[in-house]
Amino acid sequence: MKKIMNNVKVVSTGSYAPSKIMTNYDFEKMVDTSDEWIVKRTGIKKRHFSTGEETSDLAYQAAIKAIEKVNYDKTKIDLLIVATFTPDYKSPGVSNLVQAKLGLSEQDMTCFDLNSGCTGFIYALDVASTMLNSGKYQSALVIGAEVISKVMDFNDRNTCVLFGDGAGCVILENSNEEKEAYFYSTSRGELEKSLYVNDYVHMDGKKVYQFAVDAVNKAIERVLSDSDTSLSEIKKIIPHQANIRIIKSVCKHHDVSLDDFFLNIEEYGNTSAASIAIALDEYIRCQQKVENDKILLVGFGSGFTYGAALLTL
Ligand code: ACO
Repeated sequence: MKKIMNNVKVVSTGSYAPSKIMTNYDFEKMVDTSDEWIVKRTGIKKRHFSTGEETSDLAYQAAIKAIEKVNYDKTKIDLLIVATFTPDYKSPGVSNLVQAKLGLSEQDMTCFDLNSGCTGFIYALDVASTMLNSGKYQSALVIGAEVISKVMDFNDRNTCVLFGDGAGCVILENSNEEKEAYFYSTSRGELEKSLYVNDYVHMDGKKVYQFAVDAVNKAIERVLSDSDTSLSEIKKIIPHQANIRIIKSVCKHHDVSLDDFFLNIEEYGNTSAASIAIALDEYIRCQQKVENDKILLVGFGSGFTYGAALLTL
């Protein structure tokens, strides 16, 4: 895989989570678990659950926020990618449904869904940036959205306490300015049985944990070396929000502080393909100025997939 620099600008970001909140105490009433166990092992305190809203509804809400934030001319969007493993239907894709909800059905647009588990948003950014830089497209709406509560076994304490629902997105454009972006995405397909979803999520937590620590470290190192950047030049690392212990062990490996990472796992749990997108939006919203900051996104997920992105804001 060649290292290629893309030149893309993050024009806006948005995120949305359903209003229903499930705390760890709510789970104590459903399975043999405790707030103490969940917080200690994962860092999660609550998560948001849909009450009837579909993945396309969450995706649409995130998109509208990104569009309204900068008063964006949505008719410029000619590429729409939704990363998800919990689509409304097997077909059509969530992306097609979002196009319609945005009132853009009458114009030419390439719309498709992408399923790379929790790494989906990084894969989608990689694909969108490369398509933009081909010169064929001018504006990409890239969304990560999930309603994982509909594929959760609420009798399985090993999985049901970990996940939440939500959506996040970015609007990307080709840039005339120097907005360097580097992407690395890869897969280890033989590990399929450690994490898969049919009717429900099935997971060997220990195997995923071991894989995740190694994958996150490798993805960070790879994108830094491809971009000839050192960690000290990175303003913030925005990781997939799956488990605080995974992030702590990555800190140890790279000898960096937990403050170098943006975290919102306490509030949302693991929202899979939406997780990095929501965190990116929250991070940008809580900063006074991000112009030209370099940030590093990193994730892992079923497949097993993993990857990282270095963006210049
Ligand atoms: N409450 C109480 N006890 C529990 C719970 C729970 N919710 N879940 C499991 N346990 C029990 C287990 O049954 C086990 O009991 P036993 O010893 O009697 O058999 C005990 O706790 C310890 O279980 P472990 O699996 O050893 O716990 P571990 O410290 O590994 O933590 C966890 C489990 C949190 C799942 C951890 O392995 C993990 O975070 N793995 C990564 C998961 C992940 O990131 N998944 C998503 C990745 S990809 C994606 O995002 C789709």
